[in-house]
Amino acid sequence: MASTAPSTRARVHALLRYSDTSHASRRWRSVHLFVVGVGLLAIAISSTDGLPNWLTDLLTIAVIGVAMVFTAEYGMRLWSAPESPRFGGLSDGMARLRWAVSANGVTCLLAALPLFVITLGSMHADNEHAPVICILWVLGLTRHAPAMGTLARVISNERATLTSVAVIFVMVLIVAATAVHLMERNGQPKLFGTLPDALWWAVVTLTTTGYGDVVPLTVGGRMIGSVVMVSGILVLALMTGILATGFAEEERRREYLRVWDQVTRVPLFADLGTVTLSEIVGKLRVRHYPPRIVVVRRGEPGDSMFFISEGEVEVRLPRGGIALGQGAFFGEMALLDRLPRSATVVTTGPATLLVLYASDFYEIASHIPALVEAVEREARRRRAENQGDAAKAEAT
Ligand code: CMP
Repeated sequence: MASTAPSTRARVHALLRYSDTSHASRRWRSVHLFVVGVGLLAIAISSTDGLPNWLTDLLTIAVIGVAMVFTAEYGMRLWSAPESPRFGGLSDGMARLRWAVSANGVTCLLAALPLFVITLGSMHADNEHAPVICILWVLGLTRHAPAMGTLARVISNERATLTSVAVIFVMVLIVAATAVHLMERNGQPKLFGTLPDALWWAVVTLTTTGYGDVVPLTVGGRMIGSVVMVSGILVLALMTGILATGFAEEERRREYLRVWDQVTRVPLFADLGTVTLSEIVGKLRVRHYPPRIVVVRRGEPGDSMFFISEGEVEVRLPRGGIALGQGAFFGEMALLDRLPRSATVVTTGPATLLVLYASDFYEIASHIPALVEAVEREARRRRAENQGDAAKAEAT
């Protein structure tokens, strides 16, 4: 019994890990999102007036049910915390304590809190403070948004550029506030009489918010206002550009790591050297497909080929279906022959595919002939097999 406990714990830990790409883990995350949705909906409905008692009771049960799920999740996360590589080398108790006081642990605890508050009777689902629960649960959603982590990394990566833009922002702000203070202080002493008053106007104008509560009236003041508004747009455009580029770069890096992780499951890539492999990895995209999804349809033009890194697909041919499993590829014939798809290919279970777009395929063809030759060889075999079948069908 004791020897199975760690592996069960490791499995639970992997299942609950937000970055885990396994199907079970992704299914759990969908269930989690669904449960949060149900909880938020129940609280939103509870906040409306004039609900019948039976509905209020039902909504309270729903909220308690959701909070119970989060309490169970908290317990499982706490129990499996020692499996986290972050706490490697720590005792089980210490690892759990470190997790419990981490941002993740506290958010999880806050999501479970409504259970105790409601069951102890200090709050009802239709209580005026119940919407606070919404905030606690919505906070938990941040763990589902890898973009939050990405944003933090992008800001950290681009901090030097962002700081220089922030310095420009502050410079324009102070110069504008001082100038408008000098122009307007006599005409509007209440609104521009002090530098902090003028700073409020400068911030509102530079960020292009423009409440219109404080407006310069002199010609000089309005000219300054015009320059500040245009500067505001430029500064915001600069910030947006820096963040957008940083995001795109970070996403490219993450996709590269995701592909690198998957590519080892395809034997065709096994013999390639690191440099060649890294070139291909840069061109592949990871796509997860649910069961029974048509990946390519017979007769449609082909713009990509696929490598199966997990799962299985069925190639639907006139003589019946052919199963292709992990490591196999499909969709190559349309690219090689520049003809429409020769068959429909459907996933039979959840599948992870690596997609190679036509333009990248043709580029690789000139760089890595050995790989394309292997693909061509298999395509020739498949073509011959299909032609043989077609000839047999015609003869009968
Ligand atoms: P394509 O024609 O682009 O799209 C359908 C794909 O099904 C095709 O490429 C091949 O990858 C695959 N396919 C066609 N015939 C066979 C076969 N006989 N065996 C295995 N796969 C096939």
